[in-house]
Amino acid sequence: MQRPLTLSSDDFRALAHSLSDFTADYLERLPAIRSYPEDISGVAVEKLFCGEIPLSGMGGAAFDLLPEIFENSRPACPRFFGYVFGSGEPIAALGQFASVVLHQNATAWRSGPSANAIERTVIRWLSSAIGCDGFSGSLTVGGSSANLMGVCMAREAKAPANQTGVRGGIIYCSTEAHMSNTKAAALLGLGHDSVRLIPVDDAFRMRTDVLRETIERDLAANLKPIAVVASAGTTATGSIDPIREIAMICREHNLWLHVDGAFGALASLAIPKAFEGIDVADSVSLDPHKWLYQPTGCGCLLYRDPADARRAFSHSGDYARSLTNDPIEGFAFFEESIELSRPFRALSLWLSLRYFGLQAFQQSISDDLHLAQVLASFIDAEPKLERLAPVALSAVCFRYTASSGDLDDLNRRILDRVIRRGRVYLSNATIHGHFALRACIVNHRTVESDVHDVVTEVLAASAEVAV
Ligand SMILES: Cc1ncc(COP(=O)(O)O)c(C=O)c1O
Repeated sequence: MQRPLTLSSDDFRALAHSLSDFTADYLERLPAIRSYPEDISGVAVEKLFCGEIPLSGMGGAAFDLLPEIFENSRPACPRFFGYVFGSGEPIAALGQFASVVLHQNATAWRSGPSANAIERTVIRWLSSAIGCDGFSGSLTVGGSSANLMGVCMAREAKAPANQTGVRGGIIYCSTEAHMSNTKAAALLGLGHDSVRLIPVDDAFRMRTDVLRETIERDLAANLKPIAVVASAGTTATGSIDPIREIAMICREHNLWLHVDGAFGALASLAIPKAFEGIDVADSVSLDPHKWLYQPTGCGCLLYRDPADARRAFSHSGDYARSLTNDPIEGFAFFEESIELSRPFRALSLWLSLRYFGLQAFQQSISDDLHLAQVLASFIDAEPKLERLAPVALSAVCFRYTASSGDLDDLNRRILDRVIRRGRVYLSNATIHGHFALRACIVNHRTVESDVHDVVTEVLAASAEVAV
């Protein structure tokens, strides 16, 4: 009997060959490609892809729209500086291809022996690379889920709720912390109101004097402080909270310290001193899909003690429980994670690190940090531009100021025009209440002329919108 989803190895080989040619051609064009598609519109893109589900197979013609998909996408070109979004290095893409052909469930040793061994190795490499030797952990879908897991572990360690339900608990983070931390508090039943947003200093770092006072006030009011989330690279400006001082306050009050390093923790490969104290955290999130240039969908949570992860996440049913006491073969990521079925994410990262070596990634991160300083100096030298924040990592916030009108509205229009001009892609931030243009360099393809284009493009766009 021929099953309906059979694909001959010849057909697979032919399709894979043409896909590899197509993607290799695309990568060749990438350095010169527009940073945003020209004349793109929501309606036109919707129209391209809104066909009905085909009842009969199209065969190889199913791939016919790939060129349109690539054309109507925001490319990972060297002049993409939006958000905090890595640039997708191609060895990792090959790893992803191999991992989905292999089709493992990386949830436990018995369901994916190599996948488990490689993920544990990658976790060991990452822990050691950021100065947290001996930490355990797992790869996650991203930084938000890693933060959710970190805060969940904190709650279960300090105010257990898995059995009896939530009975309060307070989380502390700075006003600059990423929204995923507040979201975690909401998802965990603690509520937005349980998050104390601690003000920051002139360099956008959490004020530890206010943190201490706030904790003491909450204790005096018989509330239950649980955890402090320190940012190791805030999203808007890349500022790094004083982790060591925060850790001391946590120790004094028996609080969990979670470091949200989704943006910045991997920069400790290049500038470890900036992250002093990260090794005393209870949990740390970091994002290989940002600053190790991995495919989207590769975050990571590291933690000091796997028993804390099991306390928070181990609820296995009989169908999943391990049948062996062997410490390696009995290992299950699902006992330490919110995920059950899990993709073999580690293969891409393992291949990338083996192919290029850790030093190449260290160098690439150093280059990104350097290019951010270069951009800051270009901006500082241009009288029509004003830098709005110090550059602790690789996010540069600035605005156009050579106008007497509403600068927020003007810069909003400049940003729109910059993106549509298609040379560089920027995003935005709010700094001291002002609308800021923001360039964030976590891009292994960027060179100095690309960051120079940021300034020339913003000036060109400002001339156009002022017309
Ligand atoms: C500081 C910080 N934390 C968490 C996140 C969320 O990460 P992800 O987009 O991988 O969920 C981000 C995203 O930019 C971030 O900058």
